[in-house]
Amino acid sequence: EGHPNIGNNPLDGSLDRVRVDDSGRELTTNQGVKVADNQDSLKIGLRGPTAMEDFILREKITHFDHERIPERVVHARGSAAQGYFESYGDHSPITRASLLAAAGKRTPVFVRFSTVAGERGSADTVRDVRGFAVKFYTDEGNWDLVGNNIPVFFIQDAMKFPDLIHAVKPEPHNGMPQAASAHDTFWDFASLSPEITHMLMWHLSDRAIPRSYRMMQGFGVHTFRLVNAQGASVFCKFHWTPMAGTHSLVWDEAARLAGADPDFHRRDLWEAIEAGQFPEWELGVQLFSAEQAAQFPFDILDPTKIVPEEMVPVQPIGRMVLDRNPDNFFAETEQVAFCAAHVVPGVDFSDDPLLQGRIHSYIDTQISRLGGANFHEIPINTPLAQIHNNQRDGMHRQSVNRGRVSYEPNSLAGGCPFQAGTKGFVSFPEPQQASKVRGKPELFADHYSQARLFWKSQTPVEQNHIIAGFRFELTRVQTPAIRRRMLAGLVNVDQRLAAGVADGLGMEVPPPLPLSTSLPMHDYPPSPALSLFSR
Ligand code: HEM
Repeated sequence: EGHPNIGNNPLDGSLDRVRVDDSGRELTTNQGVKVADNQDSLKIGLRGPTAMEDFILREKITHFDHERIPERVVHARGSAAQGYFESYGDHSPITRASLLAAAGKRTPVFVRFSTVAGERGSADTVRDVRGFAVKFYTDEGNWDLVGNNIPVFFIQDAMKFPDLIHAVKPEPHNGMPQAASAHDTFWDFASLSPEITHMLMWHLSDRAIPRSYRMMQGFGVHTFRLVNAQGASVFCKFHWTPMAGTHSLVWDEAARLAGADPDFHRRDLWEAIEAGQFPEWELGVQLFSAEQAAQFPFDILDPTKIVPEEMVPVQPIGRMVLDRNPDNFFAETEQVAFCAAHVVPGVDFSDDPLLQGRIHSYIDTQISRLGGANFHEIPINTPLAQIHNNQRDGMHRQSVNRGRVSYEPNSLAGGCPFQAGTKGFVSFPEPQQASKVRGKPELFADHYSQARLFWKSQTPVEQNHIIAGFRFELTRVQTPAIRRRMLAGLVNVDQRLAAGVADGLGMEVPPPLPLSTSLPMHDYPPSPALSLFSR
């Protein structure tokens, strides 16, 4: 009570106890001992050596020496805000997720936006995918919807993620280039991975240089499941739609801003919230059954495919408002740990092989990034729902669990935690029977139909931006064979696209890459709903 920074935000309940107001207080060591002199070290005579016993100097320097933690292996550069999610209605017929159980029900959120490739101090306005990660502190545990601002991904299987990122990041021998994509290794990988084509169309479009974090869509990307209290399940794609509209920079603006104000997006988000212009998004879902999915000309487990809105409309289910900046960048924005494995009863996974790998990756990386297995106790990561289990010990343990019993079953502790049965998370019992194999379903091999769908959805101005984007990137590629392979892939998307890029490179349009499938390409109807200008 009485803390100047504490308002009506529902997160206060959990974060209050760790907020510190140092103003007007006497300085202490970390042991609470008051410090008499914070200017001078303890010396043997004013001009003599420093005494080893100067525990005050040593504590101060030691802490400083350890003030940096590893940056995220991807999405290192980001900015975040707090706010709330509000359900539009009682959605219990489709999901038992408690945050969607009643109209007007509010759930606190912490949202971090990010670039993917750049390092922690890199510029905001580079051409890159943007992360859009939402942590919902629901009353039945934390749900993290760890999405991006582009609805598809570069690859189809988690097995390829380390290769993708090794190709995207600065080259290991000289640490260049810092720019997100303009280099041989990325385009080498891209030209040898036709599954990347649909994502590249978005990546070279205006979508990859957003005007503001407040003006980006967000997507869960994968197909998920929603499950209701009776155990019935539908497939689901998640969409965030910004109420301020979806807007992009043009390349020249983005390039200038990267030099003139590398914090452009961070500043924009911060200042909007400080000014009371709270950014807002609507959460929508595309819902479809397994029977419908079986009729689609693409595989819903393939994260390089969208479900066109003409086939399944997006239904709004709630809205999200970001109304408060973090108090401390490190404690909150840097230490927050999103995880694709964090789901709550009512939300479940699909068998998308990219999603399945993500379920492992996040906790694993955070154990090293955040120092051990107890990072869920860092306030920004702690659920509002209570934690009761038999996990103990580990680096930096904060909880003081009482009693002698930390195992189950036991007969010695009457009130030990017991399993919740159907009140807990029950995995959707999807029937499975198949051989254990490596490989891909047949429809995963159609790499061009939806790339063409995206191309066709763009206005001529937007198409020219895509051509200009490819030209800029590929002129920086030193190896001619890589440029040729890229062009050969683009021919399969559209002749004008390939010709426009080839022209900029002073090259002939090569014969198309062979299609990696015997299936005919699927011609979708033009999809105006995808265009930036229709939103
Ligand atoms: C961050 C792995 C695919 C969205 C991360 C991090 C890792 C990772 C290790 C750093 C986490 C941390 O240090 O806290 C993977 C793997 C993937 C994959 C292995 C594929 C197999 C994706 C996809 C999306 C995505 C498809 C979007 C749908 C994000 C976001 C963050 C992130 C938004 C940043 C979270 C934050 O703001 O802290 N990913 N990722 N990732 N990933 Fe992924």
